[in-house]
Amino acid sequence: MSQAQMKFSDLDALYSPDAKVATSMYEDPDLFKEEMQRIFHNTWVWVAHQSEVPEKGSFKLSTVGQDPVIVVRDRKDQIHVMVNRCRHRAATVCEVKKGKTSSFQCPYHGWGYALDGSLRALPYPEQYGDDFDKESHGLRKLRTESYGGMIFATFNEDIEPLADFLGPVKKWIDLFMKQGGGFPVKVLGEHQFSVPMNWKVQLENTTDAYHFPVVHKSFLQSLDGQTNEIFQFLETGKGCVEDLGNGHSVMVMIPELVDLDENLDDPIPDRFEELAQELRDEGYPDDQVRKIVRAVGGAGFNLNLFPNVSFSLSFFRVLTPISVDKTDIRHIALGMEGGPAAANRMRLRLHEHFQGPMGFGSPDDAEVWERVQRGTQGGEELKILVNRGIVDETPGEAGPIGHISAETGMRAAYSMWKRMMSV
Ligand code: FES
Ligand SMILES: [Fe+2]
Repeated sequence: MSQAQMKFSDLDALYSPDAKVATSMYEDPDLFKEEMQRIFHNTWVWVAHQSEVPEKGSFKLSTVGQDPVIVVRDRKDQIHVMVNRCRHRAATVCEVKKGKTSSFQCPYHGWGYALDGSLRALPYPEQYGDDFDKESHGLRKLRTESYGGMIFATFNEDIEPLADFLGPVKKWIDLFMKQGGGFPVKVLGEHQFSVPMNWKVQLENTTDAYHFPVVHKSFLQSLDGQTNEIFQFLETGKGCVEDLGNGHSVMVMIPELVDLDENLDDPIPDRFEELAQELRDEGYPDDQVRKIVRAVGGAGFNLNLFPNVSFSLSFFRVLTPISVDKTDIRHIALGMEGGPAAANRMRLRLHEHFQGPMGFGSPDDAEVWERVQRGTQGGEELKILVNRGIVDETPGEAGPIGHISAETGMRAAYSMWKRMMSV
């Protein structure tokens, strides 16, 4: 047992059975290193949506924990995820965030790799002797699987298939993708920012309805009366949080918007009336107008996948752990592939309204995340509480179901954290 392993053998002290989290969980650099190995190198990690690599030769850069990776679609339409590290002396072979290419060539000494990562050519190969084995010097490939257009990769060759890892989550991914409004969901764009916080502060946040009326007061004030009412989910208490197993959870905020294909005859909300008219004028039949308009508003739930991605209302939030107290966040805006331009435009405006860098939502979130990290500088012996709502949970299919403001989703994530850290 290494020193670090010994130090973390008492996992109950870090996350106790009564749902209290030790301060060092956000602060200990040795613990962070262990997490990168035991969690991020051992499980399925989300890397991209299929619309980001739409054609043969399309690629994008992503990460699996701290490892930079390239997600690429090869000539046979197969998607590969490979570590962005030349097999010669480790330079990244690609620094372009996304694009199209026929191969990757390392800028240092010119080793060239095919789209499937195999080493194709290197300058002056004779200096390596006759028995140099090109086949064993391809880019390091990760196991890659997809569900519902979501591409995941893992360093763990022995892990269960992705579909089993997701389990009951699959149903929720299917529901979330209905916001294509009959068109395939497509990534419209993204922005990235860094927050001085531990990655688990973020892991907690997208399953946290309790903060909404407090942190997002400005957002609520910026809404029209009708929309504001829809977002009073803490008041109405109609929603819930469900542990979906393997650290995943869903937080249902607006039950009427769980299945976007239901109740399409309901009146169109005022804020979408102008869009609806524009679509009618473009010749879309009434039933399709209703479906598209409903989809534009996004789903009424947040789906949180352990360890790094959330599907929230109408966008993806992806976290990349950088160091024990620094996390990069990407907000990925979603739209409709081949859908009406007016609908995609409105999706972007709604995205900017909450998630954008000048939006009414995410900048306020980022402020409190930072304050959590700063607050943990004091009172080392005090615990962080994620026990809210533990008193009235009911059993669900894969785990407990709690009140909309319960910290059930955080407990799901921390239970998985503990399971993975103990292996
Ligand atoms: S480091 Fe890539 S070719 Fe030398
Ligand atoms: Fe928030």
